[in-house]
Amino acid sequence: MYRFDTDLTVPVVGAPMAGGPSTPALTAAVSRAGGFGFHGGAYVSPDTLRDDVRATRALTDRPFGVNLFVPERVDVDATAFAAYRERLTPLADRVGVELPEQVAFTDDAFPAKIDVLVDERVPVVSFTFGLPDRAVIDRLHDAGIAVSSTVTSVDEARLAVEAGVDSLCAQGFSAGGHRAMFAIADADPRIDTLDLVAAVADLGLPTVGAGGVGSADDVRAILDAGAVAAQIGTLLLRTREAGTRQAHKDALADPRFTRTVTTRAYSGRLARGLENEFIRANDGRAPSAYPQVNTLTGGIRKAASTDPDVINLWAGSGFRSARVATAADVIAGLVG
Ligand SMILES: Cc1cc2nc3c(=O)[nH]c(=O)nc-3n(C[C@H](O)[C@H](O)[C@H](O)COP(=O)(O)O)c2cc1C
Repeated sequence: MYRFDTDLTVPVVGAPMAGGPSTPALTAAVSRAGGFGFHGGAYVSPDTLRDDVRATRALTDRPFGVNLFVPERVDVDATAFAAYRERLTPLADRVGVELPEQVAFTDDAFPAKIDVLVDERVPVVSFTFGLPDRAVIDRLHDAGIAVSSTVTSVDEARLAVEAGVDSLCAQGFSAGGHRAMFAIADADPRIDTLDLVAAVADLGLPTVGAGGVGSADDVRAILDAGAVAAQIGTLLLRTREAGTRQAHKDALADPRFTRTVTTRAYSGRLARGLENEFIRANDGRAPSAYPQVNTLTGGIRKAASTDPDVINLWAGSGFRSARVATAADVIAGLVG
């Protein structure tokens, strides 16, 4: 079974980035460079996930992983949801889309995706937004697949250790994209990457540190804090292999965007991105309902896909260091 503490040549993990940035080319490029590429398996169908896994395998013989979001069924506050829909209606009208009256919960085909990953014997499967049932972890292990859990606190890390995972990804507060809290309603523990890595690594499992990496010094600090590798997301967003929307790539280098913030405005779950008009107008208004709010805003984001003041510009605090380069060049610059 794959082990992050002994099997990595280069101590860099490429973050899974569902919703566009993750591509087979990016995942394979990170693994080919000696790091470990993770593919974001959320938001796509099981068939597409299977195709992506096979396409990645066609590009590299080296191990790689797939990340899934663990579904959490929560009751949606219908009044708050309707109020948020109402709030977004003028913007929806402006970009020419009709907002759905109601949005049903979906598990993003989680069980069928587990079937695909078991069938395809993907070397590592990681989970974000909580832990799957023990039976899922056992099934992956029986197939020779190592299991990783993304955690934002030591309490979550302890739960993951008890559940029998093989490694942990400690996601600090500065990380780009969705915050990985196990429960949607949880407050963000807001723990700095290095503090979290040090505390989580003490539990004894190989720990990957994520959040805010912009330089070789940041990687070194994460390793010194006790991690076996540093995970980079934002630094890969502008690479040639990433499927990031052009408006998102450009915004990362645009002096108009000066800081990142966390917000539930796009998806109902907290996520860190460049502060733009959409966030300024809607932060603090969305109910904690995922994936319902994500689906609600999805049509707007699709229709306005070239407008950086409308789309989600997920980014970590090190976003200014994201360069146009190949993934191999980015990794070489971190460990060279
Ligand atoms: C655009 C984007 C999409 C992301 N999608 C996922 C995802 O699908 N699954 C996941 O576990 N983490 C996701 N993350 C979070 C990363 O795994 C990682 O924690 C983060 O990128 C590290 O911080 P950094 O962006 O400052 O390097 C995403 C991050 C970004 C920037």
